[in-house]
Amino acid sequence: MNKNLKQLINILNDGKYHSGNALGEKLNITRSAVWKFIKQLKSYGLPIDSIKAKGYCLKQPIILLDSNKIKKYIATSSRGLTAGSRNNPGIKIFTSISSTIDYLKTLSSRGLTAGSIPQICLAEQQTAGKGRLGRTWQSPFGLNIYLSCLWNFNKDISELSGLSLIVGLSVIKALEPYTKDLKIKWPNDILYEGKKLAGILVEINAETNGYSRAIISVGLNVNMQNITDRWTSIIDIVKKPLDRNKLTGEIIKQLFADLVNFDLSAWQKYDYLKNKKIKLIHGQKSISGIACGINDQGHLLLKDKNGNIAAYSSGDTSIQRF
Ligand code: BTN
Repeated sequence: MNKNLKQLINILNDGKYHSGNALGEKLNITRSAVWKFIKQLKSYGLPIDSIKAKGYCLKQPIILLDSNKIKKYIATSSRGLTAGSRNNPGIKIFTSISSTIDYLKTLSSRGLTAGSIPQICLAEQQTAGKGRLGRTWQSPFGLNIYLSCLWNFNKDISELSGLSLIVGLSVIKALEPYTKDLKIKWPNDILYEGKKLAGILVEINAETNGYSRAIISVGLNVNMQNITDRWTSIIDIVKKPLDRNKLTGEIIKQLFADLVNFDLSAWQKYDYLKNKKIKLIHGQKSISGIACGINDQGHLLLKDKNGNIAAYSSGDTSIQRF
């Protein structure tokens, strides 16, 4: 991010009004340059109030993402990780990008991702954030976590059917120090009191000789307040803003450990759908039944009205109301 823009946010983070003149002097730029930067920040959707006699004021402080701070939270000894590369991933942070997934896809297609070193991409804002099943993902500036990770597996694609569930578990485990009572709605929506807090998107490619490469993405609502009644955020749950750098580092650290261990056994504990009557949209079909957890591959087990249980590898689930 532009140095002046960063400094401007830091000054405005005190929540007070600052005149164009005062800002210009502090940043050593003209008033009209200040105005241009303010316009840019407003275009990102930042809540900046302008009053002629008083100047500019940022209504909610923004702590920007910082790769050095994030790395500090990843680097402490993670069990299951070999020392070195995986403790020190490449981290690229965009001020604004279409989608963090797009960046990693380009990187991957150019063959720029060496060996086992994971690449992380984060953004302050996404202009075309992608959700599951072709939905969009709301990605306002500086408030949430938009994270994608390019990871190489020494596994065949057929062994990775539970991957998105593993990632859901990592996110939940990283969030547990902040809030208990989180659940996972199969396959991988993270819910708090039935409202969606985070979503996960996984794209896997088969490589040669039984290797696979995945782009693993997490969208987590952190400091975005009072959303709609079907969504929630950490700030709405814990009632105070959270340090996104710390949380991002903790999620990455947990994710790296879990991607190595690949253990789904804790998943059942967080199962939001367990024993509930649900509807599964699977391709063109809508299937009703009682959710009975998952099998070893992470497929959803659904009991029909005759008591027969079938496993489903993909789909969208919702609770059936009577
Ligand atoms: C879902 O629909 O639940 C999945 C949402 C995934 C959102 C994340 S944010 C980071 C990454 N970039 C995107 O465009 N989408 C994913």
